[in-house]
Amino acid sequence: MSMKNIVFIATSLDGYIADKNGGLDWLDSIPNPDKIEMGFDSLIKSIDAFVMGRTTFETICNFDIDWPYSKPVFVLSRTLEKIPEKYKDKAELIKGSITEILKEINQRGYSKLYIDGGKTIQSFLKEDLIDELIITTIPVLLGGGTTLFSELPEELEFSHVETKVFLDEIVQNHYKRKR
Ligand SMILES: NC(=O)c1ccc[n+]([C@@H]2O[C@H](COP(=O)([O-])OP(=O)(O)OC[C@H]3O[C@@H](n4cnc5c(N)ncnc54)[C@H](OP(=O)(O)O)[C@@H]3O)[C@@H](O)[C@H]2O)c1
Repeated sequence: MSMKNIVFIATSLDGYIADKNGGLDWLDSIPNPDKIEMGFDSLIKSIDAFVMGRTTFETICNFDIDWPYSKPVFVLSRTLEKIPEKYKDKAELIKGSITEILKEINQRGYSKLYIDGGKTIQSFLKEDLIDELIITTIPVLLGGGTTLFSELPEELEFSHVETKVFLDEIVQNHYKRKR
């Protein structure tokens, strides 16, 4: 089975994934009264597991909602010693280098992975381990916050798969790594 690591994330026009206070309110700045679906639901049906950084995991735990994921979640952290009791059936802590982590997850039969969290995505990109980028751009300049991208040891070329526009405002670009 072919292995694939996919990023599906929303950013501001200036490339942030959370605002200066770590907030996500800007994600709802474009009214969506009919609750149109922008691809997340169909993507999660097709993946085997999530891999996310500790900060993203804690953000989700602190949302006042039921656990939103129906697939296994692997949490990357060097500092967390265990997953809080409440989430221990939902998420699993995983440690090691990105290559070791990926090898372990793949060996356990999870081959199509949703990679989430800025630092986590950056760690995967540094090893050239991202195959698809689906970036949904919200037309706001946040002026600071948590960045999606960071410096890389080398350039990585992608090819354009498709672009969708939602609500006349939100642009979603889908790219595939050129290999
Ligand atoms: N806009 C969106 O669609 C979207 C999506 C997801 C998240 N977010 C937001 O983005 C923010 C989180 O992004 P973030 O950049 O702060 O980070 P993140 O990737 O969620 O979490 C960073 C943490 O993950 C662990 N980690 C990352 N790479 C690692 C590696 N190679 N090895 C071991 N541990 C590693 C470390 O945890 P330790 O410090 O414990 O070692 C690190 O501090 C949150 O505010 C979240 O709400 C937004």
